[in-house]
Amino acid sequence: MTDLASADILGLGTSGEMRRAFMDELARVPDWWVSASGCRVTLGNSAYMEQLEHEMAAFHGSEMALVAVNGGMANGAIFTAIPRPGDALVYDESIHASVHDGMQTSLARCKKPFRHNDPDSLHEVLVDIRDAQLQIRSGQRCVLIAVEGIYSMDGDTCPLRELVEVASEVFPDGNCQFIIDEAHSHGVIGPKGAGLVSALGLEKEIAIRMHTLPKAMAAGGAVILCNETVRSMLINFGRNIMFSGAPGFPLLAAMKVGYEFLKSARTEQARARIGHIGRLFRNKMTSHPVWEQAQDARLLRVPLWDGDEEPPFWTPVLPLLTRPNTKHNLFLAFHLQMHGFIAYPVYFPVVPKSAERVRLIFHSFNTDTEIETLVAVIGAWAEEMLEIDQEKGALGGIRLPVAARQAYNMMAATQITNGHLA
Ligand SMILES: Cc1ncc(COP(=O)(O)O)c(C=O)c1O
Repeated sequence: MTDLASADILGLGTSGEMRRAFMDELARVPDWWVSASGCRVTLGNSAYMEQLEHEMAAFHGSEMALVAVNGGMANGAIFTAIPRPGDALVYDESIHASVHDGMQTSLARCKKPFRHNDPDSLHEVLVDIRDAQLQIRSGQRCVLIAVEGIYSMDGDTCPLRELVEVASEVFPDGNCQFIIDEAHSHGVIGPKGAGLVSALGLEKEIAIRMHTLPKAMAAGGAVILCNETVRSMLINFGRNIMFSGAPGFPLLAAMKVGYEFLKSARTEQARARIGHIGRLFRNKMTSHPVWEQAQDARLLRVPLWDGDEEPPFWTPVLPLLTRPNTKHNLFLAFHLQMHGFIAYPVYFPVVPKSAERVRLIFHSFNTDTEIETLVAVIGAWAEEMLEIDQEKGALGGIRLPVAARQAYNMMAATQITNGHLA
């Protein structure tokens, strides 16, 4: 099967390189314990951990770094410890679930979304907050804006520079700061994969960056990039960090070797390939004979391709939106799987209502031939669905597409209902 779903974007996991380097690191360091045996303010600290954080901060051009067991915990800690009563939280409407979970525990009462990637909408929300909240207007309290580097379900990048300009126009005194989740941009964009902030040279403008490390880097854990004050707040007031064990040695070792890979030519080439694959898929798909008709019939849409311009960054996440409020995303996923491609359908509430999709993730190890076959397979599905549309008009009935029938028959044969064995 061709992997169009896993987070192993640079192929470090699939190739076994990560495992081998990790085993070498375990062998290199004597006398390590599996567990950290304490939280960060007690016995959880170590010289290895501090040295690693030092290297991570230098790599990303940040004052300080703080490791965490995973990205969900890191977001939880950030949003519990950093916003204080009277502060306001503003977030992109497509922000990740773990940021929502973190915001629920926040002491900031004022929480307002802005339209996805829309600087005008951010401007409107910030002006409303400034006009309504005296303490924020006078600079005694602040606004924190939560965004992602690459959005996990849309595959687009945040227009961070434009958003920063809006924030500094509305709050010229600096009491409006950004928290960016770089889970999907880590390892993928920026110099040596350092992320969107580094790609745009905005290291000094962004207060907090959260990178998760199991995706493109194929490691584990997370790192928060920030200044000394924020780091100290997180260690002492971030509940997920204060009341949980620090990352153990094996997790730290995986992070360390992951960063070594990022610095190497091996991952530089893999990143270049992601751009090549994105371009190839777009060119082949949009020149497929059925593409225009499939778009007109609302069978397929890639919002990232609206307009003729190239995106500012080619990212590995590609959403194929299918006909709204139908099971077409499931049918397309069945069709892809029956033809040897692993890809999953995504529904509300993970994505907005009427924005059902199949989410593709491209990897450096996907070959050109696989991408060309993928285009042919998607094109054949669209042709089949157009035929079914026509029959529906003529006969009034609805025929299930072939792959869906096969999938339902297989489920019946293996007594799977709703994805569970009966
Ligand atoms: C955007 C984003 N943030 C945070 C997380 C959570 O990271 P972790 O899996 O390390 O808990 C994820 C996980 O998929 C994510 O996609």
